Amino acid sequence: MMIAAVGLFGLAALFPISSLGPEPDGTLFHTKWRRGSRLQRLDGTFVKQSDLNVGAIETVFPEGNLDDAQSVAMILRMPDGVGRDALNGYVAYSKVCTHAGCPVALYRAADHKLVCPCHQSVFDAANDAAVLSGPADHALPRLPLQIGDDGFVRADGDFPEPVGPGFWEHA
Ligand code: FES
Repeated sequence: MMIAAVGLFGLAALFPISSLGPEPDGTLFHTKWRRGSRLQRLDGTFVKQSDLNVGAIETVFPEGNLDDAQSVAMILRMPDGVGRDALNGYVAYSKVCTHAGCPVALYRAADHKLVCPCHQSVFDAANDAAVLSGPADHALPRLPLQIGDDGFVRADGDFPEPVGPGFWEHA
């Protein structure tokens, strides 16, 4: 009787653990970008190497994931020799502001500055999207790129760090 009572007590003690829900699965730290993912526009088309003129910018998602806000990115074409480690002039960054998560929606091609309209953080598109002025305190994560033999621009992997506000890096 005593043993049964202790056993039941032990089971009751475990119950709150199961009520905590499933373990986090890492989706806060990774996006849907994979090596080889084509860059897809909201209209469903894919970015080819020849599509963007110098100074142009486009909003893109990983192929087949047009509803994934965490993965939204922007690709820019910079003049030759301007973008640090640019691939044929192309660089791509997360569009999720590292301050509070607004979309970084403005690009001033004349001086290669990306501006977040929410609180006016400014990022240097030519230099790994480093912060030029806050309140954001760290760069926009950069999406590695490759260009396939078919001419499509593709991701060369996921962002190397979590996107969005820095809170998640320390969670
Ligand atoms: S969310 Fe971008 S500056 Fe605040």
